[in-house]
Amino acid sequence: MDSIKLMVEEHKYIKRMLVVVRKASIKVMQEDNINYEDFEKIISFVRNYADAHHHGKEEKILFTRMVAEMGDIADIVVKHGMLVEHDLGRLFIRDLEEALARVKNGDEDSKVDVIANAISYTHLLTRHIDKEDKVTYPFAQRGLSKASFDKIDEECEKYEAENEKKKIQATYIALLEELENKYL
Ligand SMILES: [Fe+2]
Ligand SMILES: [Fe+2]
Repeated sequence: MDSIKLMVEEHKYIKRMLVVVRKASIKVMQEDNINYEDFEKIISFVRNYADAHHHGKEEKILFTRMVAEMGDIADIVVKHGMLVEHDLGRLFIRDLEEALARVKNGDEDSKVDVIANAISYTHLLTRHIDKEDKVTYPFAQRGLSKASFDKIDEECEKYEAENEKKKIQATYIALLEELENKYL
C-alpha cells in the first residue's frame, strides 16, 4: 500500500464533503429552516471519517514518524502547523454543533454561528489539505527513508483493515454520496 497516495485520495472525499457543507450553509441562509438531520450527518462524516479515520492516520502514523526522524523543521511543521489546524477544525465543529442546538431551542440569531462555523471549517480544511498535498506529504517523502515508509505503509494497511471491519470507509463514502445527490 502507498500510504501517501491513499491519504491524498481521502483528501478528495473530504473536499467533496466541503462542497456539500457550503451548499447546506447557503440553504440555511436562503431558507428559514435548518435540516438538523443533514447537519448531524455532516458532523458525523467530519468526526468519524475526516478526523478519526484520516487525521487519525496522519497523527498516529505519518506525523509521529516525521517528528521522530526528521528533526526540527518537521517538528515545527507538524506540531505548530498540522496539529494546530486539526484542533482548530475540531473547535469549529464543536461550535457548529452548539450553534445548531441553540437554534433548535429557539435562538434564531445563532443561525449566523451555524453558517460561520460551517464555512470557517471549509476554509480551514481546504487550505490544510492543499498544504499537505503540496508541502507536508512531499516533505515527508523527501525526508523519510525507504525503511520508514515501508513501516508507515504497513501500519496504514493494518489501520485500513481494522476500519474496514467496522465499515468506516464504505459507510462514510455512501453518506457523502447521499448528501451530494441531495445538495449538488
Ligand atoms: Fe491533516
Ligand atoms: Fe490530511
